[in-house]
Amino acid sequence: MFQAYDAVDPPEVLAQRAGIPEDKVIKLNGNENPFGPSPRLTEGLANWPGYHIYPDPLQRRARAALGEYVGLDPKHILAGAGADEIIDLLIRATLEPGDRIVNCVPTFGMYSFSAQVQGGKTISVPRSEDFEVDIDGCLLAIKDGAKVVFICSPNNPSGNTTPAGDIQRLLEQDVLVVVDETYAEFSGETLAPLVPEHWNLVVLRSLSKWGGLAGLRVGYGLMSSGLIDFLMAIKPPYNLSAAGEAGLLISLEDKELLLRRCADIVLERGRMAAALGEFPALKVRPSRGNFLLCHAPSGKGHEVYTGLAERGIFLRYFNQPGLEDSFRISVGLPEHTDALISALRELL
Ligand SMILES: Cc1ncc(COP(=O)(O)O)c(C=O)c1O
Repeated sequence: MFQAYDAVDPPEVLAQRAGIPEDKVIKLNGNENPFGPSPRLTEGLANWPGYHIYPDPLQRRARAALGEYVGLDPKHILAGAGADEIIDLLIRATLEPGDRIVNCVPTFGMYSFSAQVQGGKTISVPRSEDFEVDIDGCLLAIKDGAKVVFICSPNNPSGNTTPAGDIQRLLEQDVLVVVDETYAEFSGETLAPLVPEHWNLVVLRSLSKWGGLAGLRVGYGLMSSGLIDFLMAIKPPYNLSAAGEAGLLISLEDKELLLRRCADIVLERGRMAAALGEFPALKVRPSRGNFLLCHAPSGKGHEVYTGLAERGIFLRYFNQPGLEDSFRISVGLPEHTDALISALRELL
């Protein structure tokens, strides 16, 4: 049966559900940036010229600015409506109905979702108890004919990264290796410099998290120029909107401030991990993203999740193999952490 993607609801819907005003919602379920976008964005978007003209289908200015940011030639870069769109384009470019992708579960849901939409099949290779990728398991699936391997690093929802040496073993195979680095600005790790040397490496990045542009939808992929040319040919011509392009350029101009905020989020992640670690009932996983994965005692997860939601605090709840009674908690502002900890004291 077709599995719809389980996306997060907007604050007004959450507020209604909890019976509280919208400004009382503490939204820690989407890994969004609690500081919002660059303070230059509102005025920059208001004064941007040319919303009545179609944006550049070849994204020249956006790709040039991204090239400077990641240190690559723009011929290796394609932008889109979020990393989600690049995932979808990659799948459409590579998979025929019945073809397979390798998915290292538990992980971000869009890889298997997009494969399914294309009529493809997902081979799930479970991660270890500590969420490490089973490279040997991936190699077996590749030998069996899988066309694309997705490695999310830092992994959503576990937060751990995959060592470059492990990914190198995959790159030696005749398979497309997609490394999703949506949270790279928080981990400080990237394989972007390896892209020009590897025909089969794709690195995914996004402005949604570090740039605070989740609502504007701006992401990009780094890959061989041949694959870029193919994706350029099959993508909807104006997939990066004028507002998306403007938001991207304004954010990159203000990157020092935005990256300082990432450093603050990383500090707050440490404070939140320490505070959650004080609850004997919770098991907190180390994370390199802007979120923490946390396990509640067996059978208690849903009760804690709903108890928090009733208090206006929304987390991402999981109850599936490898993620029993678990929550992913986005790092918010210090006052959000404090509210979460007080609510947990009432509930645990
Ligand atoms: C690992 C991962 N990849 C991609 C995305 C989607 O990013 P975007 O907002 O750029 O589409 C997300 C969003 O949560 C994510 O967690």
